[in-house]
Amino acid sequence: MTPLQKVSYEVTTTPVPSHLALGENTFIEKVIDTDLHCYDRDNKLVHGVFILLFQCIRSSLKCIKRMIRKTFAFALAGAAAVYATTFDVTFSTTSGHKVPSTLYGLMFEDINSGDGGLYAELIQNRAFQQVTPGTSAALTAWATLGSASIAVVKSSSPVSTALPNALSFKPTATSGTVGFTNDGYFGIPVTAGWKYTGSFFYRTPTPPATKISSSFTVGLRSTSGTVFTSTTVPFTTSSSWQQATFTFTASSTQTSVTNLFALTVNAATIGELTMEFTLISLFPPTFNNRANGMRVDISEALLAMDPGFFRFPGGNNLEGQTPAQRWAWESTVNSLVDRPGRLGTWGYINTDGLGLYEYLQWIEDMGMEPIMAVFAGYTLNGASVAQNSLQTYITEAINQINFAIGDASSNPQAAIRSAMGHPEPFDLTYIEIGNEDFFSSTTYTNYRWSAFVDALSAEFPQLHYISTSATSGSVPKLTPAPTYWDLHIYSNPNFFINGAFNFDILPRNGLQFFQGEYATTTQNSGATLAYPFIDGSIAEAAYMTGFDRNSDIVFAASYAPLLSSVSSIQWTPDLINFSPNSLILSTSYYVQKLFSVYKGDFYLTSTTNTASSPVQWSVTRDTATSQYFLKRYHSEHCSLHAPIHPASTAGTGTILTAAPGTMNTPTKPTAAVPSNFSFTAGKTITYNAPGLSLSVLVVVS
Ligand code: AHR
Repeated sequence: MTPLQKVSYEVTTTPVPSHLALGENTFIEKVIDTDLHCYDRDNKLVHGVFILLFQCIRSSLKCIKRMIRKTFAFALAGAAAVYATTFDVTFSTTSGHKVPSTLYGLMFEDINSGDGGLYAELIQNRAFQQVTPGTSAALTAWATLGSASIAVVKSSSPVSTALPNALSFKPTATSGTVGFTNDGYFGIPVTAGWKYTGSFFYRTPTPPATKISSSFTVGLRSTSGTVFTSTTVPFTTSSSWQQATFTFTASSTQTSVTNLFALTVNAATIGELTMEFTLISLFPPTFNNRANGMRVDISEALLAMDPGFFRFPGGNNLEGQTPAQRWAWESTVNSLVDRPGRLGTWGYINTDGLGLYEYLQWIEDMGMEPIMAVFAGYTLNGASVAQNSLQTYITEAINQINFAIGDASSNPQAAIRSAMGHPEPFDLTYIEIGNEDFFSSTTYTNYRWSAFVDALSAEFPQLHYISTSATSGSVPKLTPAPTYWDLHIYSNPNFFINGAFNFDILPRNGLQFFQGEYATTTQNSGATLAYPFIDGSIAEAAYMTGFDRNSDIVFAASYAPLLSSVSSIQWTPDLINFSPNSLILSTSYYVQKLFSVYKGDFYLTSTTNTASSPVQWSVTRDTATSQYFLKRYHSEHCSLHAPIHPASTAGTGTILTAAPGTMNTPTKPTAAVPSNFSFTAGKTITYNAPGLSLSVLVVVS
């Protein structure tokens, strides 16, 4: 094994970029005996993340000057020698900048994550949207029960223009229980105490001369026929569509989600009568008890991240493969029977039950700020809408914004919102013009950006418009010049470690950046990842210290993608994977959560951080609670010795760490989770952190 080496040097001042320079009245401790390098067992420079949260009672500690001395020691596995690194960090408790409330948030689009995911509907293919009648694909998730036949047909009298298809059901026997089942989105959870709320439309295309009155039975059952919960719904034959509504409550919890929703009838009561059904819906309890709402466990896991914003509805799913397949807000509002659904960008049908209204209502319920994207005339087949055909989409964008914030008494789009249950405008400040328009930079630069932003800002001058054509902080020339830019980056751990200072070098000239998508998607070798792994998550933490430090110009940042089903994955890794009844919170989820929960509201200028440092950190303060946060990452065995004065009595910390390569997976969902600890925060803080770790230290003084 290569002997460990120590690189030490003394400095009396620590150069910092000019925008980080401490203010006149602040105090910089002399930095002494500082080692800025950590080595792994092969004697390679390694990197790591650290977060310190301080708490200060400012009235009693008017000095507002702090010094933290950190001593890092390596105790490498198999090495007899312990390698110690010492460096002092000085930060001011007055110099710095505000941390925007939007700094950490969520980016969402339906990539196997809206229908059957965030959107709580349990019935897959509930309204036979966008399918070809008569095909077996049209019957996805449906099966017969007992002696009966089913087929998807184009109804001779559809329930609505938007929903032309129906399930045609016909008993093939004159006695016995017959019906049909749906197996949900990779299963249906049965949970004790859950009250399920359902509905469906039905009719008898050719009713008998004498009306038949009978009842359907609806419920949840196992695939072997054990009924867990059910109720009956009376009906009378009629050629007109009628809607049935029902509820039932489960009294037991089933560990298996391989369960079925079943609608049955006694064949003896209807004989071989053909009936049609559509929009067969079943919801579990939802977040905030909203009708047509969101899954509780997913919402709560996201809420625990204290997210500042929610970017939606894409991502690529905004754009579609062609203009006709774009996400068009009008098709996602009003009653569910008025929503035709669409073939989404990711190759499956979006029900659009999770529509513009549901997004905005849930965002409001979650206390987030929307970052709402509008389709900007570029589609994923590489084509751009011609300049002389763009007005349709500009008008559509104006109407979309009016739906969200217009005056319901005078604006027709806002009136739809009001009729749906929200007369008051939603909060809305940020509009994103398109998605990843660096793929079509010529048309964006030549006419699309200006056409959209000119028209939208004339109508809504109070809103901020985000451009999507930059790939880095070096921004392309657009007219009018955007203030807000969305940047996307997917890469490997080394990129994120080495990129921790990417935003430090950007000019302070009024531009504001949104790191709208980022994630470690491969190992350094290029090998792909099924789930986030600790090495990538800790590297993201290194990068995120740069968001804290540069939050004067980075106003928002979000990992992407946010969610994916464990059973249908088109993009890996994802922040959270879910099954019908469980969540796999990734190592990156915990990193995001720690940064967001401990973001504070004021970034405190500190010294010593450099791009080549094996550790990165940031110090922030929360004014309301007088808490100071220090976040730190590092990626090898280090120990921290942090003398701090004036004295504080106690501190609490949280650490996320695991062996290299560790992932939270469906079989090991808690392989790496944060743990809490306390430490004595006197004049000296001694803190030993293992390699590959993110720590948050909260200091009260
Ligand atoms: O987040 C996944 C995809 O990555 C988004 O749809 C797109 O914006 C980006 O290319």
